[in-house]
Amino acid sequence: MERKIVVAGNWKMNMLPSQTGEFIAGFKGKFKDDRQVVFCVPAVSLSVAVEAVKGTNYAVGAQNLHEKESGAYTGEISSQMLADMGVKYVIIGHSERRQYFGETDEGVNAKAQSALGAGLIPIICVGETLEERNKNITLEVVRLQTKVALHNIEEKAVKNIVIAYEPVWAIGTGLTATSQQAEEVCKAIRDLLAELYNDSVAKAVTIQYGGSVNGKNAGELFSQPNIDGGLVGGASLKAEFVDVVNG
Ligand code: 13P
Repeated sequence: MERKIVVAGNWKMNMLPSQTGEFIAGFKGKFKDDRQVVFCVPAVSLSVAVEAVKGTNYAVGAQNLHEKESGAYTGEISSQMLADMGVKYVIIGHSERRQYFGETDEGVNAKAQSALGAGLIPIICVGETLEERNKNITLEVVRLQTKVALHNIEEKAVKNIVIAYEPVWAIGTGLTATSQQAEEVCKAIRDLLAELYNDSVAKAVTIQYGGSVNGKNAGELFSQPNIDGGLVGGASLKAEFVDVVNG
């Protein structure tokens, strides 16, 4: 089975709810049909985005969730709430959340299980810092993050997961990993999936690259054998996103 190219735009904390509908509508008819495009918008813009993608094959994703179904967690949003409003994907464990909001690999695992339980597709982010790359421990770091994130997740469920390899040093810096560097780590993640589960799981799971992807480098990155699309920050907020998606 051929894996589909999945390109998710992570808007982070950008764009107003009132700008969202028009921005998404501006892409209509511009993406190649064989691409799955996901707009991961701020929580307050999710309902507008869900409305804007009606009648298209684009999907909407959230940028975070709380792992509990409901309860006294002021300010938080559960997987069930996201699914109920028509959200299909959710980014989990982005390096900014790990860095600024203290998210851990164990927390990522709890959130991933919660998302899967509600029928959402988690986009689980992993990636090394520059210091870790310089110490030559990139593969160990990424293997550990992935292994803990997938703890207790069964074979049936894991096929619905997207893993995004985002080297922290490449995020928002304009320093893209070379396609060889990105492919090496994405392949190591796929090998780990074969080790933890089996070849069929390894072949089925979508593995994205993220970190300074733009209209010029997307084509080469997404044509690597183990890179099935991207998680895109800055370039997803511009018209250039069309070139990124179409690669
Ligand atoms: P940039 O594409 O802006 O580097 O951001 C990458 C990212 O963090 C996507 O989640």
